[in-house]
Amino acid sequence: MSHVFEALCKSEGHAESVDFLSPEAFFQTIENGSELPSISSEKAEIRPESRLVVWDNPHSLAADRYRLLRINLEKLQGAGKLRSLLLTSASAQDGKTTVALNLAMAFAGDGKHKVLVIEADLRCPTMIRRLGLKPWEGLSDCLTNGLDPISAARRVEPLGFYLLPAGGPVENPTELLQSERLTQLLHVVSGCFDWILIDSPPTSPIADALVLKPRADACLLVVRSGKTPREAVDDAIRQFGPGFVVGIVLNGLEGLDREYSEYYRKYYSQAKAKKSTTATKA
Ligand SMILES: Nc1ncnc2c1ncn2[C@@H]1O[C@H](COP(=O)(O)OP(=O)(O)OP(=O)(O)O)[C@@H](O)[C@H]1O
Ligand SMILES: [Mg+2]
Repeated sequence: MSHVFEALCKSEGHAESVDFLSPEAFFQTIENGSELPSISSEKAEIRPESRLVVWDNPHSLAADRYRLLRINLEKLQGAGKLRSLLLTSASAQDGKTTVALNLAMAFAGDGKHKVLVIEADLRCPTMIRRLGLKPWEGLSDCLTNGLDPISAARRVEPLGFYLLPAGGPVENPTELLQSERLTQLLHVVSGCFDWILIDSPPTSPIADALVLKPRADACLLVVRSGKTPREAVDDAIRQFGPGFVVGIVLNGLEGLDREYSEYYRKYYSQAKAKKSTTATKA
């Protein structure tokens, strides 16, 4: 389960030059402007190990916390220029990918928002396997071969968000993530999506997450309850510098679900009783 601890505000600009299909050119291909028809879809195979609590258990406390996180981030978006969010953590296996996928569903859940998840962990990509998808070309292919990111993205059904997976293996992930081409790619996709969630490697021991800082508007730091050392969290925040980390998501906090389930059990039984009384009167 996850919990938002703090929220501050931050935004940074994007580069101007574009050599992929521009948002303007892309939207010329769209008739009604409300859909992304040229993006094809892929069917996910959702399993327990996918850990998609927002999908599997939408009335759980964890799913509720993801929706609360969405609401808090939407407030920040309304207050400034917040569109692309970097998800990282101080150490490996803290739950970045789990949080990215569930948050993407929380954002996409109301059907009003187009959400793109970019898998910028080019070293240990897991999304395709996690979601039981057939592999396709992704971010690394956009950055090395000039593949258009919009045509490389796919809508993941039935989850409702779009995914640009890591793509084929590369020898120089840090350099690719530092490249001007990535800045241009993000400029293009930010014209087409309401939210861009960038799943990345941890801040230590490799530099990939830190080099992504100038390419995202803000960062959510995922902390694994009982696992991530506090000093490592402080160190990660310090490395990003003031204002960039807009929230900390505490992943894996056990023990609150029972109380929450009990509250909802009472709420639903009261609501059901009220409904049947109203129906009897009518
Ligand atoms: N709240 C949780 N409770 C139990 N297991 C979890 C929880 N969150 C994540 N996991 C499991 O922990 C492992 C790591 O999760 P995840 O892949 O989301 O972390 P990550 O930070 O993206 O890892 P990496 O640093 O390798 O990219 C996965 O096997 C996942 O299923
Ligand atoms: Mg991951």
